[in-house]
Amino acid sequence: MQPKFIRETRCFKVSRVFPTDVNNHNTLFGGKLMAYIDDIASISVSKLCRATAVTASTDSVDFLQPIRPSDSVSLESFITHTGTSSMEVFVKVIREDMRTGDRTIAATAFLTFVALDDDNRPIPVPGVVPETDEEKKLFETAEYRTQLRKHRREESKKFADYLLTKYPWE
Ligand SMILES: CC(C)(COP(=O)(O)OP(=O)(O)OC[C@H]1O[C@@H](n2cnc3c(N)ncnc32)[C@H](O)[C@@H]1OP(=O)(O)O)[C@@H](O)C(=O)NCCC(=O)NCCS
Repeated sequence: MQPKFIRETRCFKVSRVFPTDVNNHNTLFGGKLMAYIDDIASISVSKLCRATAVTASTDSVDFLQPIRPSDSVSLESFITHTGTSSMEVFVKVIREDMRTGDRTIAATAFLTFVALDDDNRPIPVPGVVPETDEEKKLFETAEYRTQLRKHRREESKKFADYLLTKYPWE
């Protein structure tokens, strides 16, 4: 399978922060931002694999700066690494103060998607080729994150064995 340049998977989205998008602190509601992140990440994934894919995991979303109604919120996503059927996507969120033009990183997230066939079985995906310094840094550090995820997944499975599925009143 032909690898693709990471740039071929890049997506951008810019939105205003509307009154219906904010929480009680008048900053962008975290759930709204997470929906934006999953949405844009899934489009980078489609650009790479051109197949059905599901979110397998979202690493911690780090909310570094509040996003206010006077800001715009920009999201940028691209595939940073692939395994056999899995794809790691990086999403960078930038808040821009619309009055001053000041731009800061507001949040970052890594997500993993898995490509599936019509019977929901994992299928191979193309590799990616980094070009910029930012892409190379993320590509080179991906294996470490994959190992952490693998360990966390095993722990989650063990943890799930202890959890109850019956109704609270049973
Ligand atoms: C994700 C899913 C397809 C994995 O299926 P599975 O049969 O367990 O697949 P495997 O164990 O063979 O793993 C397939 C790949 O996914 C990766 N993977 C599976 N779970 C993962 C997780 N939680 N985090 C990161 N990667 C994961 C594996 O490392 C493997 O990668 P590789 O092919 O690059 O080596 C399955 O668990 C699933 O369908 N989960 C629900 C997805 C969903 O509903 N998402 C929300 C809506 S889109």
